[in-house]
Amino acid sequence: MGLSVHWSCFAVLSCLLFMGCKVWCDCPDEGMQMAGGHYTLSKQLRSGSLLVYHCPEGLYPSPALSRLCQPDGTWRPKPKRFSPQRCRIVECPDPNVLEYTNIHPPQVKYFVDNETTYECYSGYTMRGSTRRVCLPNGKWSGSTPICSRDSGNDCADPGIPAGATRTGNIFRVDERVKYSCNGKLFLVGSKERVCQENGQWTGKEPACYYKHTYDTPLEVSEAFGSAIKETLTTLEPLDDTQEGRKIRISKNGTLNIYIAVDISESIEDTHFTDARNAVAKLISKISSFSVTPNYEIIFFSSEINEVVNILDYLDGKIVLGNVKNELDNYKVGDRNNAGTDLNLVFTTFLERMAIIKQRSGDEGFKEHRHVIIVFTDGAYNMGGSPTFTVEKIKNMVYMNQTGEPKTPSREEFLDIYIFAIGAEIIDEDLQPLVAGTGGQHYFRLKDKKDNLQEAFDEIIDEEEVKGLCGLHKDYDTGSRDSKRKMYPWWAYIVVQNGGTKKCLGALVTPQFVLTAAHCFTFGDLPEHVTVEIDDGQGKVKRVKTFKLHPEYNINAKVKDGVKEFYDYDVALIQLEKDVEISSVARPICIPCTQETSDALQLVGESTCKQQEQVLLKNQLEKLNFLTKIGNTVEEKDAHAKLGDNRGACVRHALEADGITLDNLEVAVTDNFLCTGGRNPFRDHIACTGDSGGAVFKNYEHRTVQVALVSWGTKNVCKAGGVVESVETSRDFHMNLFRVVPFLKSILGNDTQDEYVPLQFLKN
Ligand SMILES: *[C@@H]1O[C@H](CO)[C@@H](O)[C@H](O)[C@H]1NC(C)=O
Ligand SMILES: *[C@@H]1O[C@H](CO)[C@@H](O)[C@H](O)[C@H]1NC(C)=O
Ligand SMILES: *[C@@H]1O[C@H](CO)[C@@H](O)[C@H](O)[C@H]1NC(C)=O
Ligand SMILES: *[C@@H]1O[C@H](CO)[C@@H](O)[C@H](O)[C@H]1NC(C)=O
Repeated sequence: MGLSVHWSCFAVLSCLLFMGCKVWCDCPDEGMQMAGGHYTLSKQLRSGSLLVYHCPEGLYPSPALSRLCQPDGTWRPKPKRFSPQRCRIVECPDPNVLEYTNIHPPQVKYFVDNETTYECYSGYTMRGSTRRVCLPNGKWSGSTPICSRDSGNDCADPGIPAGATRTGNIFRVDERVKYSCNGKLFLVGSKERVCQENGQWTGKEPACYYKHTYDTPLEVSEAFGSAIKETLTTLEPLDDTQEGRKIRISKNGTLNIYIAVDISESIEDTHFTDARNAVAKLISKISSFSVTPNYEIIFFSSEINEVVNILDYLDGKIVLGNVKNELDNYKVGDRNNAGTDLNLVFTTFLERMAIIKQRSGDEGFKEHRHVIIVFTDGAYNMGGSPTFTVEKIKNMVYMNQTGEPKTPSREEFLDIYIFAIGAEIIDEDLQPLVAGTGGQHYFRLKDKKDNLQEAFDEIIDEEEVKGLCGLHKDYDTGSRDSKRKMYPWWAYIVVQNGGTKKCLGALVTPQFVLTAAHCFTFGDLPEHVTVEIDDGQGKVKRVKTFKLHPEYNINAKVKDGVKEFYDYDVALIQLEKDVEISSVARPICIPCTQETSDALQLVGESTCKQQEQVLLKNQLEKLNFLTKIGNTVEEKDAHAKLGDNRGACVRHALEADGITLDNLEVAVTDNFLCTGGRNPFRDHIACTGDSGGAVFKNYEHRTVQVALVSWGTKNVCKAGGVVESVETSRDFHMNLFRVVPFLKSILGNDTQDEYVPLQFLKN
C-alpha cells in the first residue's frame, strides 16, 4: 500500500522527500471550499495542520466541523463527494416532548429565529417561559415550560427539557427521575435527579445539545460565576453577620485552584492566547474576593509546562503578582510534540495534592478545598483516559467517604470544571470528568475570540456580593449608572443653613458617610444636611446626625498667624437608614479595618502599619480623587509626595494666605498628604466643591480611601472640573491613617445596636 500512497502524493506534486525514502505530503486544498462559509488552516497544508470551518452566525459547518491533515497527505475525516461541506442552519431541540402542553406552531424541526408559544391543557398550571425563540447557539431562550397539576407531591414536577426523554413520574422524597436525549443530541447536566426532603431536586436541569450547540459568555458567567462565587464566599471570614450565608469551611480553610490549559495542536493558537488571557482575567477577578487561593497553573500537550507550582505557596515563595507575571510572560514554544495527554494533567494535580496532604497532615488536609479548571477540546491521544485518575483525586479529597451520611459533605471540597473549547470537542470523554455539587460544571464554548474573557469578566456580579468594601467595576461601560459602578461609594453633600456649602463624601459603612469637617459651620444641624447617593432607591438620604473630629478647630492657630487651621478636618455623617448595598452603592475601604486587610490580601493578623506600607509605599504615590460635573463625577490624578519629596511639596504652603516660614510646621502637620504641581507629574488640582471627597487608591478591583480632600494653597478653579495644577499650587489631604481613633470610636463602636460596627485592627 506504501506505493500507492506515494503515487497519489506525486500526483498532487507537493511532496517533500525526507530521510531517504520517507515521503511527506501536503494535503490538497482543492474541493475544500465551503458554500456560504470559509475555513482557516493552522499550518497551511502541511501535515498536522488543522482545518477549521467557519459559518456566519445562525449557521454551522456540516458534515465536518474541522479536518486534520495526516502525514500521508489526506484529510481526516475525508471529504465525501456525496455530502458536500456546507453551512447548515442551526436547529434547536424538539420541544414536542413536553407533557400536558400545546405548542404553536407544530413543526417537525425548529430552526434559528423560529418562535414557539406554549399553553397548558386546562386544569394544568404553567411554570417557565410561555414564549421561546430558537437562538443562534442552538438553545431555546427562556426556561423549560412545565405544565403540572398540584397533586400533593413532595417535589415540583421537574419538567422535560426540549429534546429529552424522562423516566420517572413520581415526585416524592427519594424518588428519582432519569433523563436521556433523543437522536443525535447529547445530554449536558444531571442525568439523574433525586427528590430531597427539602422539596428540591438534586443537581441541575439537564439540557440536550447538538454538536453545534454552545454556551454563550453570558451563560458561562452566570453558571460558572454563581458556582465559583459560592466557593469563594464560603471561605470568607467575616460573613457570619450576613443573612443566609452558611459557613461550610472554617476561616483557616485553604482554597487550592488548579488550572490546566491545553496547548496541543488540536487547539488553535488563538485559543491558547484567549485561554491564557482568560485565566489571567479569572485570577484577577478571584483576587477581588477576600480569599487568597493557592494556584497551580499548567499548559499541557504531551508534556506539562508548569507556569506556577502550588507547592511554592506552601513554602511562601510566591505572591499573587508573580502569578500574573508568569502568566503574561508565558509564550507557547514550538509545539512539535503532537500529542495531548490529559491524564498527565490530572496525575500532576493528584501528585500535588498528595504532597499538600503529606505536609498538612490528615486533619489539616480536611481544611483544604480544591477547584480544578481545565480548558481543552478533549482530543487526547496519549496517556489514556483520565477517568481513573479523577477517581483517585475524588478518593483523596472525599477521604473515602461514600454513601450517606457525609458530614460535612466532602463533595463540597472538590470541584472539577471543564471548559470545552476548540473546533471539535470530544464531549463523551470530557463530560464524565466533572465533579462538584450545585451548578453547572461543564461548558462548551464556541471558537470565537474573547468569549472566555468576556465570560470571566462578568463573573463577579457585584450586585450579589455583600460585605466587600471598595468592590467596583474598573471600566466605563458607558451606561447611565456606569460611573456609580466605578465609584459606588461617592456621595454629594449639601449643607444649607443661611448659605449653601457643597462637598463630596464617601460611604464608609452602609450608614456612615465620611467627609471634611470644614463642610460644616457652627450652628449647622442634621436637618440642614442632605446626602445624595443615586442608588436607584431615592437619591436624597436623610441625615440622623453628624460628628466632627473633636480636635478640629479652624481657629486654633490664629495666634500663630494661621488664619484657617485644617488639622483633623474629618467628619462622619450618620444616615437615618442604611443604604442598600448593590453595584451602585457600596462602601469604600478605609484604613486599619479587617475588611481592608482582606482587600489588600494581607494574611494572618495584619497591622495598620502593613496597610500603610502597601498603600503609601512609593515616594511619589499615585492617588485619585473625584470632582462632580453635573450629576456625575470625573476622576482626577495626583501624586502624594512622600519621604524625601515631602519637604519641597509642603514648602509651597507658604503661598497660602497667612502661612509664613515661622508657622509652616504649625499649619501643615504630619497629618496631611501633599499633592499638586507639574513635576515630575502634572497633577490635577482640587477645585471648590471637591472638598471632603475620598483620595483613594485601587488595588485588585477594590478601592481604599487613604485620605480626604481638605485644602489647597491657591484657588485655581472655582468653577470645578478636571483642572491641571499650576507650578506652585499644592493640595493638602487629611491622611486617614492619622485619624483612626476618631473613625474607630464611631464606626467601630460595639456598645450600641443602631448599626453593625466595623472591625478595626488591634494594632
Ligand atoms: C423557521 O425557520 C425556517 C428557517 O429559517 C423558516 O424557513 C421557517 O419559515 C420558520 N418557520 C416559522 C414558522 O417561522
Ligand atoms: C485555626 O488555626 C489555628 C492555628 O493555626 C487554631 O488554633 C484554630 O483552632 C483553628 N481554627 C479552626 C476553627 O479550626
Ligand atoms: C481510600 O481507599 C483506597 C482504596 O480505595 C485506599 O488505598 C486508601 O488507603 C484509603 N484511604 C483512606 C484515608 O482511608
Ligand atoms: C458607643 O455607643 C454608645 C451607645 O450609643 C454610646 O453610649 C458610647 O458613647 C459610644 N462610644 C463612643 C466611643 O462614642
